[in-house]
Amino acid sequence: MKVFITGGTTGIGKYMALGYQALGAKVAVCGRSESNFIENFKDKNSDIKFYRVDVSDRSAINGAITDFAGADGIDLVIANAGISMDQKSDIPDFDCAQKLVKINVFGVLNTFEAAIPQMVEKRSGQLVAISSVAGFNGLPHTSVYCASKSFVTTLCESFAIDLKRYGITTTCICPGFIKTPLTDKNNHPMPFLVDADIAAEKIMKAVEAKKELYVFPTLMLIVVYFMKYLPRSIFRTVLRIFNSSPKMPNFFG
Ligand SMILES: NC(=O)c1ccc[n+]([C@@H]2O[C@H](COP(=O)([O-])OP(=O)(O)OC[C@H]3O[C@@H](n4cnc5c(N)ncnc54)[C@H](OP(=O)(O)O)[C@@H]3O)[C@@H](O)[C@H]2O)c1
Repeated sequence: MKVFITGGTTGIGKYMALGYQALGAKVAVCGRSESNFIENFKDKNSDIKFYRVDVSDRSAINGAITDFAGADGIDLVIANAGISMDQKSDIPDFDCAQKLVKINVFGVLNTFEAAIPQMVEKRSGQLVAISSVAGFNGLPHTSVYCASKSFVTTLCESFAIDLKRYGITTTCICPGFIKTPLTDKNNHPMPFLVDADIAAEKIMKAVEAKKELYVFPTLMLIVVYFMKYLPRSIFRTVLRIFNSSPKMPNFFG
């Protein structure tokens, strides 16, 4: 089995890369910084291949996935690379927002664009995106991140319908808070926090089971689905109160 993971040098991606390697797969990861890769894989006796590629560079990610696929194609592509906003705020830093959209939105699109022809040709394969529970509702202080993950979740839902007839499974993963370098910078409470190695294990099981949507942990699923099915005006009113009262715990940074 051949597996390509974008942003597989730290956090959830790193543990998925090691997990797939342990299962005997040929694994490649990409990231912008080779030092992250060297730092995190040097003691792991790994033959994981590294591509120094920014997922927002359409032709570069296409080149990397095509190179790794070679003549025999690719089985599993995981669009995992993503960033959060540097600061959580009412009014986003729009420079950072532009960068985030290029990575979280166009990065996934570019990755899937590169993988789909390979999979259509073989009439088999699996596309996976690491979206987020943040994509189910517009949450305060994290507008652009939420919107980027809504895009990813919706894209996967459509692809799950459209690509099935080509033998391609599409899996959307929506984690809650996972302990990684991305969340280490958060200074607000993170309920139901899951360790990155445990998260990677859960994701790999969902991928293996060919789930089309996997939301975890369960307690976070209950919270986000409850919010998702509230009438939107009630949701907005409650969140405004929650977000402006100093007596409420600050979950939104
Ligand atoms: N941690 C959480 O609580 C959580 C929850 C829900 C969803 N997620 C999602 O899970 C995914 C992985 O997050 P994580 O928490 O594991 O974060 P992380 O530890 O910060 O890892 C992010 C990975 O993406 C790479 N990356 C970032 N920008 C890139 C770009 N432009 N091109 C290529 N690679 C890039 C990083 O390497 P370089 O910096 O070297 O490029 C790194 O390998 C993200 O999509 C995130 O939104 C995370």
